[in-house]
Amino acid sequence: MNVQVRRFGDKEELSRAAAELFAKSAHRAVAEQGRFSALLSGGETPRRAYELLAREPLCSRIPWQGVHLFWGDERCVPATDRASNFRMARNAFLDRVPLPGAQIHPIVCDGEAEEAASRYETLLRNHFRSGDARFDLVLLGLGEDGHTASLFPGSPLLDERERWVMPSPGGHEGIMRLTLTLPALNRARLVLVLVAGAGKADVLRRVLEEPPPPRPLPAQLIAPTRGEVVWLVDRQAAALLKPDV
Ligand code: 6PG
Repeated sequence: MNVQVRRFGDKEELSRAAAELFAKSAHRAVAEQGRFSALLSGGETPRRAYELLAREPLCSRIPWQGVHLFWGDERCVPATDRASNFRMARNAFLDRVPLPGAQIHPIVCDGEAEEAASRYETLLRNHFRSGDARFDLVLLGLGEDGHTASLFPGSPLLDERERWVMPSPGGHEGIMRLTLTLPALNRARLVLVLVAGAGKADVLRRVLEEPPPPRPLPAQLIAPTRGEVVWLVDRQAAALLKPDV
């Protein structure tokens, strides 16, 4: 597995690079296989990159007719709730791009979490029934405790090897979430992890530069079998990393 760390002066530059990579991956995937399957992250960091997808020059460069969007995790709240990752993406770009609604696949977790997880897993497995069962692009963030998606440190979900979607009660707000598991997140050609801000400096150093402890941090377990991981980090988040060689 190839891991790269790309450093940017600030979050705006990082966001622009992430949006460019989204557009480039989409263009290549649609040209090569007729569709582009991307997994979106929640949280605040990717918001600006999402906004840039709905603006020129990128918007008209993305083959939206071939794009299929999924989410790496979601809080079990209504889609109109401020905590909803789908709501954030809808406000940031989905309401302003020519992407067919049938190709937007939010995680719906409005009832019993186990049943909602099973429903989303079926949707993913059906999508990947044909062709190379990998996301072309997976976007992830990094929590200050080392979580990614809704895989939290010490969670038994980190040991899951079969299921792709599971309930995750580990959120800090006490809200039940659904999350893709490592077997699903690592089914990726390209994983982009977006990390910005001084608050992430210590955890980024631990994830990238400390040997994995007996119970690795969730973000240390992002290792696509046949793919690469690119960490997009801004100057503040990279402040404790060894100097770039
Ligand atoms: C979520 C995300 C979560 C997020 C990190 C970083 O639903 O909150 O999946 O994993 O990426 O918590 O969040 P920020 O980007 O807001 O720092």
